[in-house]
Formats: sequence, structure tokens, C-alpha cells
Amino acid sequence: MSDCTRILVPQFGPPEVMQVLREPMPQPGPGQVRVRLTSIGMNHADLMGRAGRYKLSTGEPPYTPGLEGGGVIDALGPDVTDWRSGQRVLLGPHVPRGVQGPHGGTYRSHMIVSTDLLIAAPDALDDDQLGAIWLTYLTAWGALVWKIGLQPGQFVAIPAASSGVGLAAAQVARHLNAISVGLTSSQDKAAAIADQFDHLVITHDRDDTGSRTMRPWRQQIKQITDGHGIDVFFDPVAAGPYLTEEIRSIAQGGVLCFYGLLGKLDVVDLHPLIARRGRIETFLMSAMVEQGESIWRPACQAILELFQEGAFQQHVARHFALRDVVAAHQFMAQDRHIGKLVLVP
Ligand SMILES: NC(=O)c1ccc[n+]([C@@H]2O[C@H](COP(=O)([O-])OP(=O)(O)OC[C@H]3O[C@@H](n4cnc5c(N)ncnc54)[C@H](OP(=O)(O)O)[C@@H]3O)[C@@H](O)[C@H]2O)c1
Repeated sequence: MSDCTRILVPQFGPPEVMQVLREPMPQPGPGQVRVRLTSIGMNHADLMGRAGRYKLSTGEPPYTPGLEGGGVIDALGPDVTDWRSGQRVLLGPHVPRGVQGPHGGTYRSHMIVSTDLLIAAPDALDDDQLGAIWLTYLTAWGALVWKIGLQPGQFVAIPAASSGVGLAAAQVARHLNAISVGLTSSQDKAAAIADQFDHLVITHDRDDTGSRTMRPWRQQIKQITDGHGIDVFFDPVAAGPYLTEEIRSIAQGGVLCFYGLLGKLDVVDLHPLIARRGRIETFLMSAMVEQGESIWRPACQAILELFQEGAFQQHVARHFALRDVVAAHQFMAQDRHIGKLVLVP
């Protein structure tokens, strides 16, 4: 019988701790199919999890990382009649944790999935994108549409503008006729993503060694918004001087929506937040999914229709072979990529 591949994190640590395992091919049971994964979206959370800084996502090792995936059905359980072998599918946004237990991530070549957790793939999505949509687009959609209710004409600031989530958020903002202000760390990145945003702000200077220091960027926000300020910050940084700068840039009644923890912890000045009657929200895609199928499925369908119409187009920065997962994690940690990184089994 043929083998399959699975990645294991045996203990928390640097990328090199990860192991590539060869195992017997799993067989689907009743109500299940086996999906041969053609793409696995990489996420910054995978790096934080492997390093032991995101146990919310991983639990304790040993575990298999990976929060999303998609591919082609290559075996059917004995009673499965409404799906066919060869059919292209996305795994639903909750599959990794829901089906294989807390350690059942998608860094693998084949995955057993219950049929009620499959989503038929639209033609517009290539095989190398099927497994890389939800953590970017459902996060941006869930926060800006479902949680915040971003309105036409509002200013939405998008830190980490070059990230997979940042670029997805720019497209969601455009779809809603909001005014997007991308915040990114360098001139090079700003030039590469300029067509995705209404405005861009460069937040950092780099020295010859590559280390970066933050610029005071709120004056630029003031100019861009003509003194109004930012109505919604969609923010994965959530800490230190960067957050203080955000708080000083919000409009009256503005919202800070935190969805990540990239920043280094430091003291934050909250005075302007109170003075401007601002509020803080948080967003986790998994929390949206826990609200039930009646919440996540229509959101997923709306996103897929926008892909089909061509309104959404994900930028894939680079593909890595699954067996090169160590190099892939090392590359992602450098923060030089623009868009999504994808593993291909
Ligand atoms: N809540 C959820 O459900 C959810 C879902 C998906 C992702 N996330 C979170 O979203 C964040 C981005 O994920 P991703 O996979 O899209 O990451 P990614 O593609 O690796 O992008 C990382 C980017 O973030 C920016 N950045 C990194 N460190 C920063 C810092 N200290 N201050 C300011 N900006 C910084 C840089 O962009 P620039 O150079 O453009 O500034 C960097 O290239 C992560 O924190 C992840 O955990 C949360």
C-alpha cells in the first residue's frame, strides 16, 4: 500500500525541530472521504505555534501543524454517494481542529475528512489556492463585514498591509466601498502593493543591518483623512508604540479591531482612546466558526462568489514543497514576502 507524508512538531522550538514522517495511507470510514491535498496555506500562527508562543492553536507537542488546506478527493467512504473521486474541494474553515482532534493539522499529503465539512471548489480557484483562502479572506470578511460592519466611505487602516490577511482586507474594503489605508514597513513593499490600497503609509526605517525602527506615522494619517482620523483599525500588531500611534490616529467613535499579536509588549497610552470615545474589539476566525454553520457557510459562499467574479484575487508570494517545510518556516520568519505562502505536498 502506498505511503503518505505528515509533518510533526515533536517539541516546541526553531524550524529545524520539524520532522517529515512517512506513514501508511489512511482509509476513509463511513461518512468520510480522503482528500489528496494540493495546497496548504501557511500562516504566521504556524510559526508562533511551533515556537510555543501560540498554544491556543496547537496545544502541547507532539502535534501536526496547519490550519487550512484543500485538494482533490481520492477515496470515498463505503456509504458516500454525493461526492465523487476526482472532485476538487476546500476543507471547511474548522476542519483541522474539528476532525482530527486538537493536533490534526493540515501539514500532510492526505487527510480524512467528514463530508459535511467539505466545500465544493469553484473553477476560479486553481489547485494551488484551494487550501489557502480561509485564514486570509474569512478573517478579513469576518472582522470587517460580520463583526464591525464597515460602511462605505469609512477609513479603514490595515497594518501588516503586505501580509496575506492585509491584502485580503484591502479587497474586502474595496468591495464595501470603504477607503483603505495600508500600513507597511518598507518602501519596496509599498511599491509592490500600491495598486491594492487607496492610500499607503510606510511605518518603519531600516538600517544597513536590516533592523527597523518605527517612524512617527500619525501625521500622514491626519493628512490622508483630512483630520478625520481612522474609523476602523484592522490590526494584527496590538502592542507598544505602534498601538499608541494607532490610538492617536483614530476618529471620534473609532474602533480598534485586534486579530493578531505580532507586536512586542510595551506600555500603551490609552488617554486618546477614551477622549475620542473609541472602542476595542477582537476577532478570531475560529470564534466566528464556533458560532455555527449558519454564520460561517454564507460568509464562505460570499467569498467564493467574489473569487468567481474576479473581485477577489489572492496573491501567492511563493510555493514550497511540503518536504521543504523547514526552509518555508525560515523564509516566512524573515517577513520579506508579499501575500500568501503555500505548501504543496
Ligand atoms: N484572528 C484570526 O483569526 C487570524 C487569522 C489569520 C491570521 N491572524 C494573524 O494575522 C497576523 C498576520 O498573519 P499572516 O499569516 O498573514 O502573516 P504574514 O503573511 O507572515 O505577514 C506578516 C507581516 O506582518 C507585518 N509585521 C510583522 N511584525 C510586525 C510588527 N512587529 N509590527 C508591525 N507589523 C509587523 C509585516 O508586514 P509589513 O512589512 O507589510 O508591515 C510582515 O510581513 C498574525 O499575527 C496571525 O496570527 C489572525
